[in-house]
Amino acid sequence: MLTIAVSKGRIYKEALPLLACAGIVPTCDPESSRKLILPTGDPGVRLLIIRATDVPTYVEYGAADLGIAGKDVLVEHGAGGLYEPLDLEIARCRMMTAGKIGETWEGKRIRVATKYVRIAKRFFAEQGIQAEIIKLYGSMELAPLVGLAECIVDLVDTGNTLKANGLEPRDHIMDISSRLVVNKAAMKTKNQRIKSLIGDLESAINDGTSS
Ligand code: ATP
Ligand code: PRP
Repeated sequence: MLTIAVSKGRIYKEALPLLACAGIVPTCDPESSRKLILPTGDPGVRLLIIRATDVPTYVEYGAADLGIAGKDVLVEHGAGGLYEPLDLEIARCRMMTAGKIGETWEGKRIRVATKYVRIAKRFFAEQGIQAEIIKLYGSMELAPLVGLAECIVDLVDTGNTLKANGLEPRDHIMDISSRLVVNKAAMKTKNQRIKSLIGDLESAINDGTSS
């Protein structure tokens, strides 16, 4: 049995066509079903539906053989315990700092609201900027509007969320896309099956299936 961990929503939707090219088609829809383990048309493959931030944990501990997770989640998790053999080139966006339009924070000690505490700490340390990092779990764009922080570190795609809240993007921290991650032991014990899946996904990416 091959177990693949994936989060509902954006990543699931964008990964479906790629998985289909590898012959993996779930038999029910996680949006309408309450099932957390989704069988697929292939009796030897199942999907686990979990929170995006939990994917590296399931894969690292071997509860899932493989997973699909954003680079943001992997870097924040510190995914040293996993193999990351493939960039699936889906759910692309950028990690950026942002603040209120026209407001500068140069030279000041700043408060930074983010769910990416580790990445933010590292980024501001590298810039030589003193920053107090405030951990949030979502809606980071609100923080500068109500005086919780001067700056946020969050994902930006179209820029619409920043714009709608009177914020502007500042520093580009890193490009983000979703990656296939593999448990290290599974890579050995299920090598042939995993290699063949990686090959199928690679072909699907090269054929432009995800775009
Ligand atoms: P959780 O369930 O832990 O709250 P989440 O709400 O961040 O996770 P999604 O919004 O579905 O879950 O994001 C999952 C992944 O999709 C992110 O980790 C990131 O890699 C990518 N992503 C997030 N926002 C965007 C966006 N606006 N455009 C493209 N990709 C995005
Ligand atoms: C993500 C991210 C930003 C938004 C950026 O939120 O946290 O808020 O997308 O996208 P944009 O630049 O195209 O506006 P998401 O839509 O995933 O909402 P959530 O974090 O509340 O799940």
